[in-house]
Amino acid sequence: MAKKVKQATPHRNGIKPPKLERKQIPNHVAIVMDGNGRWAKSRGLARTAGHEAGEKALVDIVHGAIEIGVKELSVYAFSTENWKRSPEEVKFLMGFNREVIHSRREELNDLGVKIRWVGREKRLWKTVIDELKQAESLTKNNKVLTLNMCINYGGRAEMLDAAVSIAKEAVKKKIKPDALTEKSITKYLYAPLMRDVDLFIRSSGEQRTSNFLMWQSAYAEMVFLDVLWPDADRRTLWKAIEIYAERERRFGKA
Ligand code: FPP
Repeated sequence: MAKKVKQATPHRNGIKPPKLERKQIPNHVAIVMDGNGRWAKSRGLARTAGHEAGEKALVDIVHGAIEIGVKELSVYAFSTENWKRSPEEVKFLMGFNREVIHSRREELNDLGVKIRWVGREKRLWKTVIDELKQAESLTKNNKVLTLNMCINYGGRAEMLDAAVSIAKEAVKKKIKPDALTEKSITKYLYAPLMRDVDLFIRSSGEQRTSNFLMWQSAYAEMVFLDVLWPDADRRTLWKAIEIYAERERRFGKA
């Protein structure tokens, strides 16, 4: 029997998502959750307080994504480059990601969210991997929204890891190099079932993609918003979707 899912909780101000046609709503939204450090600094707080405040923004955006009908949401929670931060911040971010996944997994499961870890195993804390795998297993049959937690993720690392796997298969004569296609390469990415990104959002006013979902975002619409991540909520997502709805996507066609 199909599991009964809980409806997304409406926004505390009661505001509803903008009315758009289905084709104006992106299936896959990727978000670079940037600006936690600056948010904290402007309040005289430690950078880690900014990350903590970012949890609420993410959860509200998950509810808002469900309300408007987004099917897949990818969030950049720890990049392969974030290991260059101070040991204290790296330690905090590892523990924080683990705690957030642990404490939010039931709520996300009730909403019908399928949690998926996207990233590289090497260097990532085993306790974080264990937590991610438990969340994946708990939510594996959910269909409302796929939430890709991109942790220890880098676009170049992903392509490098795919190239290594492909080269190994070619040496074993399991694949013919000339038979490779753009579609067959996706089998070697961290999440082969991930859709192409339709809408790529970055908060904080920075206008960079920072190595996030390079392959998958080849034709994504980019929306850069001035809000710092802890100040974002579902209205930020909806605003980006309204901007997206106005864009004309041609995918190389005239
Ligand atoms: C970017 O802000 C944020 C990160 C590198 C960490 C990822 C995001 C979070 C921890 C927020 C929520 C995540 C979860 C799992 C709930 P920054 O530190 O680069 O900010 P700055 O550019 O202002 O210094």
